[in-house]
Amino acid sequence: MITRLSSFGSHGEFRVRAAIDFAIVNICMLAVWLAVALWRIASADLTGVHAQLSHFANYYLMFCPFAALFPITFAVGGIYNRGLSGRQRAARAAGACALIGITYSVSAFALNDRVMLEHSIAVGFAVLVSLVVPASRLLKEVFVSRYEVAPRDGVAVTNRCKTVLVVGGAGYIGSILVRRLLAQGYQVKVLDKLLYGPGAIQDILCHNRFQLIEGDCRNMKHVVQAVNGVGSIIHLAAIVGDPACELDHRTTSEINYAATRMLIEVAKGDGVRKLVFASSCSVYGATDDMVDETAPAQPISLYGRTKVESEQALMAAADENFQPTILRLATVFGHSYRPRFDLVVNLLTAKAYQEKLITIYNGQQWRPFIHVADIADAMMLVLTARKHLGGEILNVGDSHLNFTLSDIGTKIQKFFPDARIEHIDNSDRRNYRVSFIKIERLLGFQAQWTLEKGILEMKRHLEAGDIRDYRNPSYSNQKCLANAGIPRHAEQRDEVVMAAFAGGAAL
Ligand SMILES: NC(=O)c1ccc[n+]([C@@H]2O[C@H](COP(=O)([O-])OP(=O)(O)OC[C@H]3O[C@@H](n4cnc5c(N)ncnc54)[C@H](O)[C@@H]3O)[C@@H](O)[C@H]2O)c1
Repeated sequence: MITRLSSFGSHGEFRVRAAIDFAIVNICMLAVWLAVALWRIASADLTGVHAQLSHFANYYLMFCPFAALFPITFAVGGIYNRGLSGRQRAARAAGACALIGITYSVSAFALNDRVMLEHSIAVGFAVLVSLVVPASRLLKEVFVSRYEVAPRDGVAVTNRCKTVLVVGGAGYIGSILVRRLLAQGYQVKVLDKLLYGPGAIQDILCHNRFQLIEGDCRNMKHVVQAVNGVGSIIHLAAIVGDPACELDHRTTSEINYAATRMLIEVAKGDGVRKLVFASSCSVYGATDDMVDETAPAQPISLYGRTKVESEQALMAAADENFQPTILRLATVFGHSYRPRFDLVVNLLTAKAYQEKLITIYNGQQWRPFIHVADIADAMMLVLTARKHLGGEILNVGDSHLNFTLSDIGTKIQKFFPDARIEHIDNSDRRNYRVSFIKIERLLGFQAQWTLEKGILEMKRHLEAGDIRDYRNPSYSNQKCLANAGIPRHAEQRDEVVMAAFAGGAAL
């Protein structure tokens, strides 16, 4: 299913642009009128100045309604349509202005100058308006591309560099991120197989700058269609989490690794410069040290291995025209349009609320945490950064948010004093404390959400009845996929294509 963008901007956009063009046309006329008056004064032609002044009211009574012809003609000529470049708009505007300007000048010659304009003013106006209106289009294009201006919400973005593809944009992180992008004036395309349903993006499907391509990132046709015309890609699509990945190794490897390799090829072929990849701090595996981006990746799960393999493919593909940035995300918490209760903070908070029990597995293990809204902010920072971030790996989190799992239990219990904490040990060896100095130094990124604020937010959603039962399979990737079955290929040949891209990767 493809939800297409309408080719025309919103009514609000149209009105603003039409009003601006109407004003420019009037300013052109006033400028010529003034120039002629000044020239007469300089030539001591006081009779001419007097006549010009006495006709001023007549001129404008006739001219103002006529000036409305410009935006009307522009609308009919498609100049306000989205999808045109600044140059195309300028060329169309030049043609339309010349046509109306000449018509006006001929009318001025043919009709009485008491109701029409003087010939000299009419001709001067025709020339000026034919230059100024197209020039305004060209200048806007130069300005927007040079200064990477993010237009206000509601203003259509036609520039390719302002069109972003979010692969996996209907998920937990993506559904927040795409709203951030829309609010910043971006044109947003989402390629998503909707493994967990369309609910998280339902209300933005009709947004005039949003396009959903319901498809599979393992299918070449879907990927080519999605990548076409975008300036940047944020790649989030994956089978996420160790338990979900364990359901089917081949599918996990295809989606989390082989599809990344295919996306790289398609993106490079299409001239996309920026690709932001969502990796995970779980690539650090099990270590007692505080790790930064230079630490060796030692994944201890299939999920972590596929992330490392994708990172390596991206780094190998980086060149001056293709600039991938790898973001190793801390463990995310917080509410989203697609709530997840297979993430430790969310899960323990919901358990404390619903069952008055906080079950901590392997309490001494360290994890870095980060709120989902902060992740979206970090991704926006990377996307809009002027700094060259091609080939960089950045841990995304905040050094103040490294906690043991026992710490998490204690913090949650403060909000649910009648909940009991139980400790269980199992075979999960993941343990990592992470440094986030690099992203702070390069981009000034600091988390805005504390763990306590995120727990409180989730508590309020639980109390408000927004989540009826956190155990509902829709809130867990593993349960959801176990119920629905592994995601099937869109076409039979995708399996062969994926095998080719997987190369020697271990399944
Ligand atoms: N949530 C976390 O704690 C966390 C931590 C570290 C890294 N990450 C990474 O961030 C990214 C987003 O995570 P999330 O929490 O939003 O996960 P999510 O499971 O909520 O979202 C993943 C999205 O990808 C889509 N998808 C999966 N397979 C697809 C396919 N074959 N084709 C097209 N779309 C497909 C799903 O439908 C879903 O909308 C993932 O790459 C994940 O590995 C997440």
